[in-house]
Amino acid sequence: MTVVTELAEPLLRRQDPQMADVLAGEAQRQATSLQLIAAENFTSPAVLAALGSVLANKYAEGYPGARYHGGCEYADLAEGIAAERARALFGAEHANVQPHSGSAAVLAAYAALLRPGDTVLAMGLAYGGHLTHGSPANFSGRWFDFVGYGVDAETGLIDYQQVQQLARTHRPKAIVCGSISYPRHPEYSAFREVADEVGAYLIADAAHPIGLVAGGAAPSPLPYADVVCATTHKVLRGPRGGMILCGAELAERIDRAVFPFTQGGAQMHTIAAKAVAFGEAATPAFATYAHRVVANARVLADALAERGFAVTTGGTDTHLITADPAPLGVDGPTARGRLGAAGLVLDTCALPYGDQRGIRLGTAAVTTQGMGAPEMGRIAALFTAALTGDAAQTRMEVSALAQEFPPYGVQ
Ligand SMILES: Cc1ncc(COP(=O)(O)O)c(C=O)c1O
Repeated sequence: MTVVTELAEPLLRRQDPQMADVLAGEAQRQATSLQLIAAENFTSPAVLAALGSVLANKYAEGYPGARYHGGCEYADLAEGIAAERARALFGAEHANVQPHSGSAAVLAAYAALLRPGDTVLAMGLAYGGHLTHGSPANFSGRWFDFVGYGVDAETGLIDYQQVQQLARTHRPKAIVCGSISYPRHPEYSAFREVADEVGAYLIADAAHPIGLVAGGAAPSPLPYADVVCATTHKVLRGPRGGMILCGAELAERIDRAVFPFTQGGAQMHTIAAKAVAFGEAATPAFATYAHRVVANARVLADALAERGFAVTTGGTDTHLITADPAPLGVDGPTARGRLGAAGLVLDTCALPYGDQRGIRLGTAAVTTQGMGAPEMGRIAALFTAALTGDAAQTRMEVSALAQEFPPYGVQ
């Protein structure tokens, strides 16, 4: 357990034992199972300390130096530090660190650049697009006219010719590159060319790769995209939240689109925690971590392929692996259920072909725990055991492996 939760535990337990039990249960779950959800990670104790700080009490509508509330001198400092660190980390002219989530960041980017009814070209949901890329269940699909590009059914790679053809046909106002499950680097320069040809804005939704970008383990969309949206959790290892990076010419539009257009008061404790995470991400240790995340994902992808999983695109360049477990006689949802029962926690995802679902996993959290190549081999073996062997025995082995690498030091 962390210093923070250790200190808070007796207090919470005295006042609210019911919730103390819930938190203790979650801490135990995280420490005794393997967190392979590609979008999750373990924040540092320092990030947790900022999240649980007195800035949680502060109302701060507006921006540093121009707030609608009094008493914002420390809130202003926190947000100034967060924005400055984000700009330095990603080489951006402007950073807005207020979006409450990745979805809120995308909403604000659309609000800044588009009008309702505009056409937007984004990865189709059936191929790994996010809800905010045109799902009919989401504001994006309701308020904009989305056209979806896909991936090649054979290779699983983005079909840039199709992107170009669709752009020529539909003349979108914006093109979105980014995905919840694409394990390779998007070719940002190719997207930029298409956007320039049809006069569209290019929005990179880099929620997944942004932590790798911070650590120099993935190419940056910054030189190519007009606006970069991201989450601060995932590989970046910050608190749950979003941010937007852009050039100076769009700064004011982006800021107004976040507040007051789509959000109210900034969550100052989260912004302080984002600043702490950006500080951590600027260190050589984080660069080493980001490269290890990718190295681990490659080893794990190869090991899963050897065990019969059909790994899409034949591997990965990132933290993220998608695979079809069909050769092992199960579909994605069944696999997720059996793996979850064994303590291997992950998601299902769209596959490049057909309408069956596969599995999606990532190595951000297990790498934070200190696992390396040998453990990736052990995890792959546990996958086979969970799907085809003794469930109770596999659950014990997963728990033993997890406890060799406690996320927050000694339990
Ligand atoms: C590509 C992409 N965009 C947006 C989001 C939304 O982030 P959030 O869940 O914080 O709203 C995600 C989250 O996984 C994502 O992967």
